[in-house]
Amino acid sequence: MSSSTQHEEISAMFDTIAHQYDVLNHILSLGLDYRWRRAAIRQVMTPAPQTVLDLAAGTGDMSLTLLKRYKPTKLVCADLSTEMLERGKKKITKRYGDKQTEFVQCAAEALPFPEATFQCVMIGFGVRNFQNIPQAMNEVARVLEEKGRLIVLEFSMPKRGFFALLYKFYLRILLPLFGGLISGSFKAYRYLPSSMERYARESPLPSAICAAGLRMVETKPLSGGTVLLTVAEKA
Ligand SMILES: C[S@@+](CC[C@H](N)C(=O)[O-])C[C@H]1O[C@@H](n2cnc3c(N)ncnc32)[C@H](O)[C@@H]1O
Repeated sequence: MSSSTQHEEISAMFDTIAHQYDVLNHILSLGLDYRWRRAAIRQVMTPAPQTVLDLAAGTGDMSLTLLKRYKPTKLVCADLSTEMLERGKKKITKRYGDKQTEFVQCAAEALPFPEATFQCVMIGFGVRNFQNIPQAMNEVARVLEEKGRLIVLEFSMPKRGFFALLYKFYLRILLPLFGGLISGSFKAYRYLPSSMERYARESPLPSAICAAGLRMVETKPLSGGTVLLTVAEKA
């Protein structure tokens, strides 16, 4: 399948669930998604970044969490899905006005920004959907300023024990069922757990980060290892 066809499929899927995405996100994560985003934003460097890219921004919750704490002069929300971005735009402009935030529909693998545009790039639960993670990380490295920071939140799998079993049951049975029933898209909520398990098995991010010339700063498991926070820097 060509990369543009895959991008079309992914964006069509997120377009379909955009209207229910926030509600489902909060329900299916038991409200923990707020905590994960706050933990990610605490990793934003000091002094506070003035230029930030929220990549795979979706409905803008990473940006909203950032804006509670920082006031960058330029914030760009970028995403493949126009419907997800449209929702994000409504939420952000309602609370913070339409001055400092731009909304750009694009693919992570081909960012339409010049070199060294941003001091910080953050990606919340987007990487596992990228069609080409190494290419996306090359693009992130290109648009980051020197000493700029990359912050990634992504799902992971608890390794062993009863909790790991329980989590698999939740992922394979409960999440597709409730996600499908509430959103009306069983396809999207079958895709979600399978993409999470595949991504956790292959764990492609650390090597892609290093191959792009970024330096790993930290990886931190959150909520019993169900989410991994990764921080890297442009040397
Ligand atoms: C699970 S949502 C995450 C949204 C938001 N960052 C959050 O924290 O809730 C994943 C988003 O990644 C976007 N996405 C998937 N593949 C992408 C790509 N190659 N380039 C840009 N955005 C992409 C989807 O359109 C979707 O909005």
